[in-house]
Amino acid sequence: MKLLVCGGAGFIGSTFARLRLREQGDAVTVLDKLTYAGREENFQDLTEEPGFRFVHGAIEDPGAVAAAIAAGSPEAIVNFAAETHVDRSIAEPDAFVRTHALGTYVLLEAAREQGLRYLQVSTDEVYGSIDVGTFNEDSPLRPSSPYSATKTGADLLVASYFHTYGLPAVICRGSNNYGPYQYPEKLIPLMILNALNGDSLPVYGDGMQVRNWIHSTDFARAIGHVLEHGDPGEVYNAGGPDEEANIAVIRRIIDLTGAEESQIDYVTDRPGHDRRYSLSSEKVRALGWAPNVRFEDGLAETVAWYRENAWWWEPIRSGDYRGYYERQYGRSLQP
Ligand code: NAD
Ligand code: DAU
Repeated sequence: MKLLVCGGAGFIGSTFARLRLREQGDAVTVLDKLTYAGREENFQDLTEEPGFRFVHGAIEDPGAVAAAIAAGSPEAIVNFAAETHVDRSIAEPDAFVRTHALGTYVLLEAAREQGLRYLQVSTDEVYGSIDVGTFNEDSPLRPSSPYSATKTGADLLVASYFHTYGLPAVICRGSNNYGPYQYPEKLIPLMILNALNGDSLPVYGDGMQVRNWIHSTDFARAIGHVLEHGDPGEVYNAGGPDEEANIAVIRRIIDLTGAEESQIDYVTDRPGHDRRYSLSSEKVRALGWAPNVRFEDGLAETVAWYRENAWWWEPIRSGDYRGYYERQYGRSLQP
């Protein structure tokens, strides 16, 4: 297939591009704005692959979208492009509204005009929090944060283009991803790097919030599976095999890195913090997908990757991220 991968310079988008180029022999054009989270380092190993192209631009810019389509002649658009950090959406929601609402609209219009298939990458956070049981694709949409509310808006716009215009669009909603190349603002890479660098480990609230962890290669494969086998107009959930409380994840990271228990620091909770996510993946499993990576194994491999790839994270930790960390946590990282 020829694919336009929007947001392909980010964590999961670059993982997806790598798998599609190397395992499926697809041609991949990445369109990415290169926000703080989008980095050319994430696909620097792909630039010599036959079929790889990069176009720098925003999904809310119709000219940039047209240029990317002209460059790659795609059959389908896969949209990963998003602002993805809940804490940043609480502090500054503006870019979340622009990228998720306007950006998704511009991509949908381009898909409609050009007769392209469309896949929206979405999140379990659109369902809100669940204390007992699991969400399925028919669960009510009850987003809690500006991040998840704007992602929900984007999903509803995608659904409207299927119902109104017959656009062959599908939505794939994932649970919490982890793995190589994840920006260190997120729980797992933040704790790994703070553990390795002797910084404190900031736990929000009581640390008993539960997340449903999926390795990024498993989620990327689920997205490919939905693209190839999903029915237009449908939603498919892809959740990981393991659920774990945040404090238990942090204790695993302490064990894997040799950090000290005394580095744990209970800090003020996130406003509106969702208590638990849990996703049923029966529908996509019925299409033949299943996750391959157990959390225990994937986490150990991820810690090893961050240990071995300081070239990737050192420029982040010594750059603008330091200022973000000070604003968010009220303390500085070790120099
Ligand atoms: P990320 O923050 O690592 O990457 C996002 C990418 O989108 C970056 O490369 C960024 O430059 C790009 N981008 C942002 N705004 C853009 C714009 N206006 N135009 C073009 N490019 C833009 O995010 P991620 O964790 O890889 O998430 C990718 C997608 O998967 C998102 O849609 C997210 O909602 C979804 N998702 C993420 C998770 C998770 O746990 N990380 C789980 C489920 C779903
Ligand atoms: O569920 C899917 C979602 O998972 C994605 O759609 C989002 O893009 C992604 O960011 C992620 O959202 P979360 O809010 O669950 O992820 P985050 O890594 O920010 O936090 C995970 C949990 O860890 C959450 O309960 C908050 C807690 N946490 C997080 C940070 C950054 C802490 O206790 N301390 C921290 O410093």
